[in-house]
Amino acid sequence: MTIVGLGLPRRLVEFTVDGEAVRVPEGSTILDACAAAGKDIPTLCFGDTLEPANACRVCMVEVEGSRTLVPSCSRKAEPGMVVRTETDRTRLSRKVVLELLGSATDLSTTPDVAGWMAECGAEPERFGPPAPASDDRDDRRPGEHEIPDGLTAATVRQPVKVDNELYVRDYGKCIQCYKCVDACGEQWQNTFAITMAGRGFDARISTEFANPLPDSACVYCGNCVEVCPTGALSFKREHDKREAGTWDESRQTATTTICTFCGVGCSLTLHVQDNEIVKVTSPHESSVTHGNLCIKGRFGWQHVQNR
Ligand code: SF4
Ligand code: SF4
Ligand code: FES
Repeated sequence: MTIVGLGLPRRLVEFTVDGEAVRVPEGSTILDACAAAGKDIPTLCFGDTLEPANACRVCMVEVEGSRTLVPSCSRKAEPGMVVRTETDRTRLSRKVVLELLGSATDLSTTPDVAGWMAECGAEPERFGPPAPASDDRDDRRPGEHEIPDGLTAATVRQPVKVDNELYVRDYGKCIQCYKCVDACGEQWQNTFAITMAGRGFDARISTEFANPLPDSACVYCGNCVEVCPTGALSFKREHDKREAGTWDESRQTATTTICTFCGVGCSLTLHVQDNEIVKVTSPHESSVTHGNLCIKGRFGWQHVQNR
């Protein structure tokens, strides 16, 4: 007999967003309510399978009576709240955040960010051309900062880390959203192969002692790649195709099936381009995987091409 847990019914919370009355189940966030009302709030560090990290601050909205703007991705809806998503304050806040991120980070593979920047008038280029990539970010020590030259924008650029055949780390695209750290750590994988190192502008995601991935605790589940919002982490096949100019999502199909490696029954989504599997993900709404896989499901398909 299959037993399905129905959970307790939740009270509805009523409040207003941009003058419209909305009702959402108790425990929902303002972002949930905005999504239900068809309002598009930008998010970067928010992950639908992760606890809110509140790291990026692009999702800020105004709540009447609150001194500061609040992050919509984590703030729970309360009865009678009056929320405004498009005001001078929210637009200015978003503009500043996107300008600072855009001046320091390569956002060229971050979905939707160009549109958000255009909407709020963000001009990251006003800080000057990006400074050259630095190859010593992993060695930087807290409190020892380089003196800016005043002509170029300081950036987190560094050489792309290609040290294994499965996935690539391009930390010049990293916005330090913590999603990979949380996915690798106690929220999903419990491997703790990566964490934040350094302080302030020198903060960066790192393995222990900045070791190459093959010498780290990484078990190559790829769950960090799954949640990375900017493309800082990408599958090697995707990275190589982007480098060669042959990555084309408009020519890709996605087919969801069940992994056959073991009896757990994980859902796999096979992304196929030109009759070739180019990456494997898992549906975030799957009650078995919640978007996570092990190395076999994530990367154990390469033999399919070796006919
Ligand atoms: S592949 Fe898995 S184990 Fe390795 S760093 Fe990413 S989440 Fe952690
Ligand atoms: S590598 Fe990606 S997921 Fe990890 S902190 Fe950077 S942007 Fe976020
Ligand atoms: S998406 Fe809300 S703080 Fe980043």
